[in-house]
Amino acid sequence: MEQLKNKILSEGRVLGDQVLKVDSFLNHRIDPALMSAIGDTFAALFAEEGVTQVLTLESSGIAPAMMTALRLRVPLIFARKRKSLTLKDDMWTEKAYSFTKQEESEVSVSRQFLHPADRVLIVDDFLANGQAALALARIVAQAGATVAGIGIVIEKSFQSGRATLLEAGFRVESLARVASLSEGRVTFAE
Ligand code: G4P
Ligand code: NA
Ligand code: NA
Repeated sequence: MEQLKNKILSEGRVLGDQVLKVDSFLNHRIDPALMSAIGDTFAALFAEEGVTQVLTLESSGIAPAMMTALRLRVPLIFARKRKSLTLKDDMWTEKAYSFTKQEESEVSVSRQFLHPADRVLIVDDFLANGQAALALARIVAQAGATVAGIGIVIEKSFQSGRATLLEAGFRVESLARVASLSEGRVTFAE
């Protein structure tokens, strides 16, 4: 997606050779026009997949997932990261280990909102090692529902996430694929 790549090139900041900071339009301040274009793009890519719900993880996944759900005319669910005060019996819960943050978090979705007939499009802002998306996919499986696909805004192609998700059998569409962040420069795949 050219508009997104241009935004990354003009506003992204490279930290070390592993992390891309995009606080000016995705992770802190949000560019609504760009999110709208992202929603259009995901909705077009997954138009034939029979999506009934979009699922993301709080907090940075919500903006692109919201625009995608709006375009597909389906609800958006955001999985919660902290432990809920609600009884655990009411929630589908999975653990996700983050290599970036070196910590395990628990993600949960109310059983009320996911059903066996659902075809769920998972959307997230970043794909690194794929552990967040896998945890969401396991929640979809717990509910007896189906993963219709996985939409990623920014994929770090030099990490293992894409391969992990493809091996698990999912369709993965990434709007920007970052091949390298070495020498302080963003290089895209393809
Ligand atoms: P994984 O799911 O692909 O395995 O990724 P990982 O656990 O390593 O990512 C942990 C957090 O770090 C996620 O945000 C993810 O979006 C973010 N992240 C990973 N790599 C980058 C990067 O290069 N740049 C930026 N900006 N973020 C990155 P989170 O903890 O869920 O926080 P939130 O932003 O949703 O609040
Ligand atoms: Na994030
Ligand atoms: Na995220």
